[in-house]
Amino acid sequence: MTVAIVTGSAGLIGSETCKFLHEKGLDVVGIDNDLRQYFFGADGSTAWMRKELEQTLPRYRHCDADIRAEDAISKIFRELGKNVSLVVHTAAQPSHDWAMREPVTDFTVNANGTLVMLEATRQFCPDAVFVFTSTNKVYGDLPNELPLVEHELRWEVDPAHRFAAHGIDETMSIDQSKHSLFGASKVAADVLAQEYGRYFGMRTGTFRGGCLTGPAHSGAELHGFLAWLAKCVVLGKPYTIFGYKGKQVRDNIHSYDLVNAFWHFYEKPRAGAVYNMGGSRHANCSMLEAIAMCEEMSGKKLQYTLSDQARSGDHIWYVSDVRRFQADYPAWKYRYDMRTTLREIVDATIERSRRA
Ligand SMILES: NC(=O)c1ccc[n+]([C@@H]2O[C@H](COP(=O)([O-])OP(=O)(O)OC[C@H]3O[C@@H](n4cnc5c(N)ncnc54)[C@H](O)[C@@H]3O)[C@@H](O)[C@H]2O)c1
Repeated sequence: MTVAIVTGSAGLIGSETCKFLHEKGLDVVGIDNDLRQYFFGADGSTAWMRKELEQTLPRYRHCDADIRAEDAISKIFRELGKNVSLVVHTAAQPSHDWAMREPVTDFTVNANGTLVMLEATRQFCPDAVFVFTSTNKVYGDLPNELPLVEHELRWEVDPAHRFAAHGIDETMSIDQSKHSLFGASKVAADVLAQEYGRYFGMRTGTFRGGCLTGPAHSGAELHGFLAWLAKCVVLGKPYTIFGYKGKQVRDNIHSYDLVNAFWHFYEKPRAGAVYNMGGSRHANCSMLEAIAMCEEMSGKKLQYTLSDQARSGDHIWYVSDVRRFQADYPAWKYRYDMRTTLREIVDATIERSRRA
């Protein structure tokens, strides 16, 4: 028996991971207590996805446990022991705006929760591959110090800069910038995952994501950029753009492409690896560009307001350089580009609104 443990299994990346691994023949044990509903209210609940996983994946078992609860997590790992060959840890408090409401909750979920998962893996299945979903927020607001040039619809980096052609690579410092409390708790987790690789020799892979997206995202105002935008366009909800004239640029990777990257890592793991992972130059857009695409795809107009107030620590321009991962795993390729990703999100939002 080969088992994968997936935390945050009803979330965007967790659910995609469960489906992917199940399809590959692994038994999947998912850990998720729908804390997302506590963070973001009913819009953010992932209970619908838990139900879908339980109904459609016969070798999926759900554990309604909290990743901070050492005893409950140890019990799950002890029972499965060395049958566990892969742990994909995606459960998190994922919003940097929410973190300031309850800094302790944010830190304990993101940092302590990751430590509990790493330690349980070390105790009960040390040979398992451990994938951690980190974030580009570990670089704090340092990307905002790049030489930026304003265009009609987006910010861009001065073409002479070394990050202009391919995006930001892993050499950017994670130190001495404003991270938001969320960024700080993720830095702690990111460094812990690296350390279990470097210090204990465990096969840990840290993936620093740009915007991760896909039709399974339970979009809420405080988290899930494209999913929330599509929801507002399709359902006629008002939308607020926070700062930077709506020209802020994000790279967006479809959850399938990300999980496929995890799979390549699992097949040929390394110890303590760190990768920037996102849509890169292949798939990125500004808010204004995303709005135009959503409107065109849905045939509806978005009611939006432009606030002068940028989110604290938010990036003006972030595009991931994924060439380190591509060099280590040359067989990995993108399946989705910007338009195909957005098309799926808009279609899924329309479909869900019809069923509601
Ligand atoms: N979505 C993005 O744009 C993005 C970007 C960069 C990094 N990330 C990281 O990727 C990971 C996955 O993101 P996502 O968008 O799939 O998040 P998500 O919010 O959709 O899913 C996370 C899931 O974890 C669960 N969860 C939260 N706290 C828990 C706890 N204490 N115990 C058990 N379950 C808990 C939630 O209920 C939710 O279902 C996170 O670590 C996030 O920080 C996400």
